[in-house]
Amino acid sequence: MNIIRAENYSEMSQLAAKKLIEQVNEKSNSVLGLATGSTPEGLYEEIIKEHKAGNVSFKDVTSFNLDEYVGLNKENDQSYYYYMHHLLFNHIDIDSGQVNLPNGDANDLQEECNSYEKAIKQADGIDIQILGIGLNGHIGFNEPGTPFSMQTHVIDLDESTRQANARFFDSIDDVPTQAITMGIDTIMQSKQIILLVSGSQKAEALDKLVNGPVTEDFPASILQKHANVTIIADQDALSEL
Ligand code: GLP
Repeated sequence: MNIIRAENYSEMSQLAAKKLIEQVNEKSNSVLGLATGSTPEGLYEEIIKEHKAGNVSFKDVTSFNLDEYVGLNKENDQSYYYYMHHLLFNHIDIDSGQVNLPNGDANDLQEECNSYEKAIKQADGIDIQILGIGLNGHIGFNEPGTPFSMQTHVIDLDESTRQANARFFDSIDDVPTQAITMGIDTIMQSKQIILLVSGSQKAEALDKLVNGPVTEDFPASILQKHANVTIIADQDALSEL
């Protein structure tokens, strides 16, 4: 694993944007795997800035997001659909028909998972996948104990994850109990992975990811087995390494 040390959150975001933009400028029809949460917000701001400066176009790009809450419709401002459109897609020239998120409001969730996985394969896989990490080691919404062999599936969210994400909702009762997420196997099939980590509260998780055993009890540890992972982390996140 290649580890890039950034001074702070802002530098982490700039370095990540540079990598993603290089990818798109090299291959205009790149397939991007995108993440939500507070960590990549700065990355999306940088991308918008670079796009507005004329340094990158997303018109031939396809994107797949990692995950979506079950039961929130697209208009819900806590859905990842809303997040991605408001923080990125509405500000760049990506074709709205080329952006993909799991539909957490589908009638048949299993069918939704199957067709999402199929669409990724039909697009010839993900060239570059952006990841964050949860405090319990989740990537996407693959909670501890999720088999490494899983593809896109419905997951019951850990109570600790619901509590960590409650800050975005009016109350903990509003936080969904389930999500659709790409599986670990889906993520591991990405050609390249960029994991962003910021802040001292993530330092222990980052240490476990890099130095701990590879175990389904700490899903992010599987990244040790991927051939092309770059971790971009700030000083605070790297403080336990
Ligand atoms: C969320 C998302 C993950 C994200 C993680 C950390 O629940 N499903 O994709 O990486 O938890 O979020 P944050 O960046 O807000 O700490």
